[in-house]
Amino acid sequence: MQEMRRSHYCGELRLADAGKTARLTGWVMRRRDHGGVIFVDLRDRTGITQVVFDPMIDQVAHERANQIRNEFVLCVSGKIRGRGEGATNPNLPTGEIEIAVDQLEILNTAQTPPFLIEDDINVAEEVRLKHRYLDLRRPKMQKILITRHKAMLACRNYMSERGFIEVETPILMNSTPEGARDVLVPSRLNHGKFYALPQSPQQFKQILMMSGIDRYFQIPKCFRDEDTRADRQLEFTQIDYEMSFATQDDVIEVTEGLMKRIFKEAADIPIGVPFKRMSYAEAMSRFGSDKPDTRFDMELYDLSDLVVDCDFKVFSNVASSGGQVKGIAVPDGANQFSRRDIDELTNLVAVYQAKGLAWIKVMENGFDSGIVKFFTGETLNAMAERMRAKQGDLMLFVADNPKIVADSLSNLRLHLGRKLSLIDQNRYDFLWIVDFPLFEWNEDEDRYEPAHHLFTAPTDDSIQLLDTDPGNARSQHYDLVINGNEVASGSVRIHRWEIQQKILNNLNISPEEVESRFGYFIEALQYGTPPHAGIAPGLDRLVMLMLGEENIREVIAFPKTQRGACLMTGAPSDVTDFQLEELSIKIDA
Ligand code: AMO
Ligand code: AMP
Repeated sequence: MQEMRRSHYCGELRLADAGKTARLTGWVMRRRDHGGVIFVDLRDRTGITQVVFDPMIDQVAHERANQIRNEFVLCVSGKIRGRGEGATNPNLPTGEIEIAVDQLEILNTAQTPPFLIEDDINVAEEVRLKHRYLDLRRPKMQKILITRHKAMLACRNYMSERGFIEVETPILMNSTPEGARDVLVPSRLNHGKFYALPQSPQQFKQILMMSGIDRYFQIPKCFRDEDTRADRQLEFTQIDYEMSFATQDDVIEVTEGLMKRIFKEAADIPIGVPFKRMSYAEAMSRFGSDKPDTRFDMELYDLSDLVVDCDFKVFSNVASSGGQVKGIAVPDGANQFSRRDIDELTNLVAVYQAKGLAWIKVMENGFDSGIVKFFTGETLNAMAERMRAKQGDLMLFVADNPKIVADSLSNLRLHLGRKLSLIDQNRYDFLWIVDFPLFEWNEDEDRYEPAHHLFTAPTDDSIQLLDTDPGNARSQHYDLVINGNEVASGSVRIHRWEIQQKILNNLNISPEEVESRFGYFIEALQYGTPPHAGIAPGLDRLVMLMLGEENIREVIAFPKTQRGACLMTGAPSDVTDFQLEELSIKIDA
């Protein structure tokens, strides 16, 4: 075999290199036979170079080139030359040169790939995932992986410069209460016992603060056995960190610096710090969501007080019995939306349990809707004024309990924002949501659950409420939102065991369960735990947003499908009877 160490990458050569010789290695992207002269686009991680096989230059190489097919692996040597007048390709960085090949080695052949290895392909995702090694050869996917690498590198450099040290924590561990279902691994040495894969390194990073590490970070894999979605995977990556003697503002400051650095170094996107902050209550009131997309308006307005006495019973009944009537004004919606369109929107809010979607159009000569007759002119004007609705707008309303109103109108708002192209796709809106409630009421199980997680500290003035009115306690929990996506979540932690104990009591976790699951943690808290705080941005979501991708699978080298499967390797799969026996496990098929 000839020497195959490349002299250049396929994306490197320029006209200034003409006259030199080069040796390139790579994959055949396409081959064209121009009556005697064969052109091949050779591709590697950095780009493509056109290589030419001309019998006038080398008979043997040209002869061999006849066998070349797509995705063959080649090593070629030859002279770099400028392409002739009219033959340059301005779309290609290397488009002004080509290699006149005098030596060709076919390093390997390839079967015909099931799809073309180029960016704009129209192929079912299952096929791409099954042949991920071919999919990842596409320039777009290579760019994603390189961006992800740069993001991790920027993160490691930044965290290290800021005094954080990287510590690995176990993958085989006890179940941690992060709110999702655990992925379990049976233990061979302890029949009937299981490890849980970490939903996050939450307990370990707090233990590291108790260990005097002061500032910890890690880029860990986390596992949550929950339904996958466009922004959720069974197995994902966090940038996890924790700081001792730190407040909410300290964590926010470090995180803003980290975001600035990652966006700049991985994607060359400049972002301004500090980010805006908004309370949970304000976000819920104005947007009906704790992760509002603030790139467009169309905010929610509460009209309950205006309609409490009106003749439209749907509104007055709800408003007078503790519910809410809220609305959004769709700009220029009056003429754009037919009855049928509004019916479709009604179906959309029904998904979130809304019982209907009332509407009123603001026309040149007054208000238009079947329900206008139930309101006085004064009320209609007051509603339009509060909603900032102008002539030509469409007002849409939902009356229900606050949760249903928020869910349905926030999702309707997002739907309409996209549909009406109200969202500036080139903008990155970073927003901190702060002042979360400490607990949420779980209707189904009739008990409180942590709004974030068990270890989140209440605000100082909420501590007294833990005994009397836990539903109104607020916490030192903060989320970072980008363009309507939650990308990071963190909190100041409880560092005093009495308070940790109290929270566990509020959650109705039995003393036995506390002992068996958190006994070690409660004990550790009693040996001089420093005040500490932390956060964890999701790396996959960050890279996804940075690159404008719509699905988290696009930014993960080997992702899992909706059904938790890896289509390339076939995981999860059967194991042998012997393996099951060793684990003392019987399958109840
Ligand atoms: P949390 O559970 O909010 O907090 O997760 C933090 C961030 O991780 C990302 N994320 C996910 N990304 C992809 N797929 C998933 N299934 C998934 N779940 C979460 C999100 C989210 O904002 N231990 C705490 C952090 C802390 O308190 O320091 C935690 O894990 O971007
Ligand atoms: P109805 O009185 O059921 O004919 O409804 C009249 C209008 O009010 C229709 O446009 C319904 O979609 C709407 N509507 C019914 N229930 C609600 C509700 N809870 N919130 C908002 N609109 C509603």
